[in-house]
Amino acid sequence: MTQRTAELADRVALVTGASRGLGAATARALAAMGADVVLTYRRRQDEAEAVAEQVRAVGRRAWAVQCELGEEASIAALLEAVAADPGRIDILVANAAATSFRPLMQAERRHVERTFAISVSGFLQLVQGVVPLMPEGGGRIVVVSGADTRTWIPGHGLLAAAKAAMESMVAYLGCELGPQGTTVVGVSPGWLDGESIEAMLGPFYDTAMVAERETHPMRRTVSPDEAAEVLALLCTDAARFLNGSTVESDGAGIFALLGRYSVMGAKVALAKKPDLDPSDAPAVPL
Ligand SMILES: NC(=O)c1ccc[n+]([C@@H]2O[C@H](COP(=O)([O-])OP(=O)(O)OC[C@H]3O[C@@H](n4cnc5c(N)ncnc54)[C@H](OP(=O)(O)O)[C@@H]3O)[C@@H](O)[C@H]2O)c1
Repeated sequence: MTQRTAELADRVALVTGASRGLGAATARALAAMGADVVLTYRRRQDEAEAVAEQVRAVGRRAWAVQCELGEEASIAALLEAVAADPGRIDILVANAAATSFRPLMQAERRHVERTFAISVSGFLQLVQGVVPLMPEGGGRIVVVSGADTRTWIPGHGLLAAAKAAMESMVAYLGCELGPQGTTVVGVSPGWLDGESIEAMLGPFYDTAMVAERETHPMRRTVSPDEAAEVLALLCTDAARFLNGSTVESDGAGIFALLGRYSVMGAKVALAKKPDLDPSDAPAVPL
């Protein structure tokens, strides 16, 4: 765990979906900056407890609490537990998400309702319950979106729609909560080289990661720990004027991808010179 300045000392963060992946990495990153952390998990209690231990190992307090974000009663129980101990929340990181990845034409009503129950209704219920636990002067809410709101990812239609709704709520909540000092920021990470992408890509994982390394402008993949550093920065006071916006933190990966599918990029690809990349084209002198 990278030790940083204690910029978040004495703050309490609540990170949803912190038993693994980006949520677990964010819990560690916030602890490294001095925050105590409430971590939620859905089923993987052992993994959540292990992350809580990592937080305690750097001298911070940690609580691992079960919460099914698709269920109203489960969120109410989480809020009750948090109100009792630690009693206040300065930072909420809405990270957890789940869906059934499938083409929209194969999505059943129950898939739509469950995806939206977790990322839209559950998210809003959580925000409504956490804001009263935030200190006078306000807190920070960081909402994790995804590149699927901006670019087609096969099977992501439902999750993209839910994330797009969250991005709208980031802007609206930013306006509604701003007057009391609570600021709301969305963040859209790129592909994270971790367990969930591995599960999603299955046998294509290795090939896809090689392609990502070869074509990403930074010529590498991003780990959840690196992506979490951006989330932790968004929790600091200095990020307050990002209120209402959703920032991309994919190292220009999506922008470059779109460029490759532009007319010029496609022509270079059709030239069948695999050793050439569109970005290798010489600059045209003025
Ligand atoms: N992975 C990527 O490449 C990527 C890229 C862009 C954006 N994102 C976004 O980043 C966030 C984290 O992604 P990730 O890949 O790190 O996630 P992940 O590894 O799939 O972990 C999901 C976390 O959410 C919890 N969770 C799942 N369903 C839940 C539910 N119904 N109620 C409450 N908690 C639930 C899980 O708990 P259990 O462990 O107990 O099941 C786990 O802690 C998501 O919002 C995702 O959309 C991910």
